[in-house]
Amino acid sequence: MARELCDDFKSFLVMSVLERACELEREGKRVIHLEVGEPDFPTPDCVREAAVKAIRDKRIGYTHSLGLLELREAICAEYHRRYGIDIHPDQVVVTPGTSPAMLLAAGCILNTGDRVLLTDPHYACYPNFVRFVGGVPVFHPVREADGFQFRSQTIRELAGGHKAVLLNSPANPTGTLVPMETLEAACASDMTVLSDEIYHGLVYEGREHTALEFTEDCFVFNGFSKRYAMTGWRLGYLIAPRHHVPFLQKMQQSFVISTNTVAQWAGLAALQEAQPDVERMKGIFDQRRRFLIDRLKELGFSLPVEPQGAFYLFVNASHLDTDSVRLAFDILNKVQVGVTPGVDFGPGGEGFLRFSYANSLENIEEAMSRLELYIAYRGKPSLR
Ligand SMILES: Cc1ncc(COP(=O)(O)O)c(C=O)c1O
Repeated sequence: MARELCDDFKSFLVMSVLERACELEREGKRVIHLEVGEPDFPTPDCVREAAVKAIRDKRIGYTHSLGLLELREAICAEYHRRYGIDIHPDQVVVTPGTSPAMLLAAGCILNTGDRVLLTDPHYACYPNFVRFVGGVPVFHPVREADGFQFRSQTIRELAGGHKAVLLNSPANPTGTLVPMETLEAACASDMTVLSDEIYHGLVYEGREHTALEFTEDCFVFNGFSKRYAMTGWRLGYLIAPRHHVPFLQKMQQSFVISTNTVAQWAGLAALQEAQPDVERMKGIFDQRRRFLIDRLKELGFSLPVEPQGAFYLFVNASHLDTDSVRLAFDILNKVQVGVTPGVDFGPGGEGFLRFSYANSLENIEEAMSRLELYIAYRGKPSLR
């Protein structure tokens, strides 16, 4: 059954870009990678040291299925510090990344045929979590002028026909924040709010809000991959309404048993000690963001809503080519800059390109010079 449901799983186009980039690198070309959504910083020292210490101290057995109590308490403290809300460690499930947290939540609330409202464009993996448990992802086109986020009015109009709505703020691929009124409207609706908060803490303008500020009856996904540069550690968490926890716990016990113990101790150090590192990385991301916004505008791209967070820009490139896959591969082949085709994020992203600024300012500067050359000589035989 599950296999059947996965037949229309879409593969990740960004991986095809990356694979072609690797081929070019094998041929000796220097590719600048602006396609990948992974911080280019090493995990902070204090976090790596905590992991080494955990291994030395032989703290390496299974943990409680919901996660180390110390870590769950620190997550609650973090949500209190940042948003002034009170959650209980029993509502937190520590998972091997944010991705499994989404799968657990989908498995917990969706029955066959249940509809989940998503923006189009959206993070490419969302529909797969919904489909895997028999749910139906429903894509609603959102406007570039609205930062590709739902309006509160739209949420109110669509609420009736959907079991849940998935919101992502700041978002991948657009870097924009969900407006507070939209979050409020979603939390006040009959839909269950699934709030992906993985890019919280990487907001350069404005302020991010958790769905938990507006309702206790929501599922929040968060993790350590982005803010703490811990992608490969595989550590995330789910905050869930209390009455759902027994079922979530049964799933977790069966499918995961418990999340990697060393990664959990490292995550605790991240929450307790790595804030100065986060601030430093955030400052650097912001500098790159401002440079890229200005430079892309200079190159003739429009950006009606400037991204406020995460490390992405999503720009309309349809004046160069309306087929974003063809355009991304052409840029890669001709000037060796990797970018992600917008259509990877849903049909609403067609004609757009996602630029990730998880690369050094020096490399981004070089990538923009190459892009300038690409635009100037596009279609001319002299550009090799
Ligand atoms: C919006 C969004 N949610 C979730 C994830 C998954 O993150 P994790 O590494 O915690 O599984 C990503 C990864 O790129 C993402 O961009």
